[in-house]
Parts: sequence; structure tokens; C-alpha cells
Amino acid sequence: MEAFIKKYQASFDKEELVKLIISKKRIKANQLKTVTIKPIFLKSILKLSLIEHYQTKDITKNFELEESKKIVQKLLEGDFYQADLFTTTGNWHFLLFKSGKSKLKAGEVTNKPLDYLHHDHIKNRLIEPIGNIYLRELGITSFEGVIKNDSQDKFRQINKYVEIVDDVLANVELPADFNVVDMGAGKGYLTFALYDHLRNQLQKKPHIIGVELRAELVDKCNLIAQKAFFESLLFVQGNIKEVVLPKIDILIALHACDIATDKALARGIQAGAKIILSAPCCHKQVRKSMKTEGLLCEITKFGIMKERQAEMLTDTIRALILEAYGYKTRVFEFIATSHTPKNILIVGVKLRELVAPDQEVMAKIQEIKRMFGITYHELEQLLK
Ligand SMILES: C[S@@+](CC[C@H](N)C(=O)[O-])C[C@H]1O[C@@H](n2cnc3c(N)ncnc32)[C@H](O)[C@@H]1O
Repeated sequence: MEAFIKKYQASFDKEELVKLIISKKRIKANQLKTVTIKPIFLKSILKLSLIEHYQTKDITKNFELEESKKIVQKLLEGDFYQADLFTTTGNWHFLLFKSGKSKLKAGEVTNKPLDYLHHDHIKNRLIEPIGNIYLRELGITSFEGVIKNDSQDKFRQINKYVEIVDDVLANVELPADFNVVDMGAGKGYLTFALYDHLRNQLQKKPHIIGVELRAELVDKCNLIAQKAFFESLLFVQGNIKEVVLPKIDILIALHACDIATDKALARGIQAGAKIILSAPCCHKQVRKSMKTEGLLCEITKFGIMKERQAEMLTDTIRALILEAYGYKTRVFEFIATSHTPKNILIVGVKLRELVAPDQEVMAKIQEIKRMFGITYHELEQLLK
């Protein structure tokens, strides 16, 4: 513990600290999931920003070094088993065991030098803009690593997304070399960022495949992946529904158009993916097959209301289908509507292997469909 705290202090003193992540809760039921500490300039004085990550919120407090050292020690003695120190000259992995023993292991340098002196402050973000080749190639940052004005929103979205996946992953056990499939990867912003974070910050060893219909995007993304030396990131041209894939541990589908989301969810469920994460896009299919009767017609006679109702029903049924197939499912807004109106995220974590979908949940789905005169739901159909 003493040696680890010394490393932490030295990285701060030499202005080499990138971040410290404290994880692996000692008590499962504790609400506090992880803690991140990052350097921050406040009124030109270098301090530490400590972010407590809870299930539904983050709490940030700023501290002087001495105070933060005590907090780190206290957290490791009482609440967590693990701490990862990321610096610009090397990384350190500190692990405590139930027996009281501990291990401190050095890792390779994965972080670029931070331009401490030229920044007023370092924002809380998981993706490092400086020296990150893919961000430059995708046009998000300038050559010097400055986020372009018209990409601020995109960069915020990328960070938020990575933060959410980070949270989900923290509570799920995966094999060491797990596979992630990103369905409808598009220009690859989020696929690259996730790879960067998992591989370079968290030191995990994922193989990530981005599936995309448009060959020109696939070629461009593969070129950028090569330039960035992202060896285990591959983009393949193909249709979500039938593209040949290896085993899927994590399935991601972000804003895949209309029923492409259902095709992706179906593949994830059929492959028994441990995590399924989807931000649905447009919802035309259910809207077309919806025929309300009686009082409900008073809602659907207004076009926008019918649209919103169809969206709610589409995604509710998707979430319920995930539940029926053994997934613990959450639905929430992942970013403010001012950044994107398509801001619903459905996250399913597989809890149980089922031989057949839960009939009780399936019956509820039938009842909802009957109420709203929905004759057909793409995901349900694909799984039949
Ligand atoms: C709105 S973009 C989203 C891109 C990316 N996931 C993101 O969130 O930034 C949707 C992408 O899905 C692709 N797509 C739609 N249907 C698909 C299908 N059936 N198979 C593969 N890709 C598909 C489109 O070509 C498009 O690039």
C-alpha cells in the first residue's frame, strides 16, 4: 500500500498522473461502484478531482494531494480491492487480497504526455484527445489534439458512451479475450473510442468487430485502425442479419436504423451475448403495424403522439423480450436531449440461460400488442 501511494504521489509531483481508478467493491451491495481521480487545475493550482461513480449518478469533489492520499488509502482498506494508476511514464496495477496480502505490478506506458502547463484545467473525460490518432483521422481533433469546435458535442457523446459501457462492464465477468460486435458501426467514432478505452486505459484485451453495410465506411475505418495500431479492431462489410461472426460476448447497436436494431438484438440474444447495449433509432415498423381502438384513438389521431407512442411500444417490447430471454434489463436516457433526441439506451446483462423464453413475460408482451393493435414486432418475429 505504501509503495503504491508513493507511486501516486510521485506521478502527481512530476505532473505525470493521468488518472487513478479504484475498483472491485469489497461489499457487493455497496452503492459506490468505482472511484476515479484525475488531475485538475483550479485557479492555476494543480489539485485532484475525485469522482465517485454510483449506479445512477456521479459525485465530484476536489482535493489537495495529501488529503487525496488519505482517501485512497481509506477506500482501499475499507471499500475496494483494486487500484489502477495511469501515468504518462507507466501504469501500476495494485491488488489487495482477502488474506490481507497485496500485489503491485508495473504495466507498459499507454498514455501520451499531458500538456499540463498549457491547459487551464483537465476536464473529466475518459478519452484522451491529445495524441490520439483516430480522433484526428475522424476529424474530431486538430493535429495538436485540440477538439474542434463543431465536434464538441460528438466528443461529449463519445465520452458519455464509453463511461456507460465502463459502468456496465465493471459488474460483469467476461473472459480475458472477449469479443465485442458493434452492429451498424457507421463512421466508427464509438467503436474506436471503446477499443481505445478498453485496450489502452483499462488494459483489457477485447477483439472488436464493427459491422457496416457501407463498404466505403468499412474501408476508411480499417485504414484508420491500422494507422492507430489498433490490431484487434476490425471493420467488416455485411448485413447485420447474416454476417458471419465469431462468438459474441458484447453486442452493441447504436442508432442502427429502424429494424436493423431488431436484427442486431436478435443476433445478440441468439448468440447468448453476456451484454447487449442498444440505442434505438427510428421506429417505423411498429408505427405502421399499430391499429388502436376506442379511447386510444384519441392519442394516436395526433401524428406526433402516435410516433412517440410507437417509439415507447417498440422499445418497451424490445426490453421485455430481453427480459424474457434471461437478461436483466435497464432503459434510460444516456445523454441530454439537447445533444441528440435519440437518447434512449437499452442495456441487458444476461443473468440466466433459458431453454425457452419466459412465458409469463411473453404473455405480457402479447397483451400489450393486443391493447395497441400491434400485429407484428420485428424482434419477436426474428426470434420465432
Ligand atoms: C445512424 S448510423 C449509426 C452509426 C454508429 N453506430 C453511431 O452511433 O455513430 C447507422 C449505421 O447503420 C448501418 N446499417 C443500417 N442497417 C444495417 C444493416 N442491416 N447491416 C449493417 N449496417 C447497417 C448504416 O449504414 C449506418 O452507417
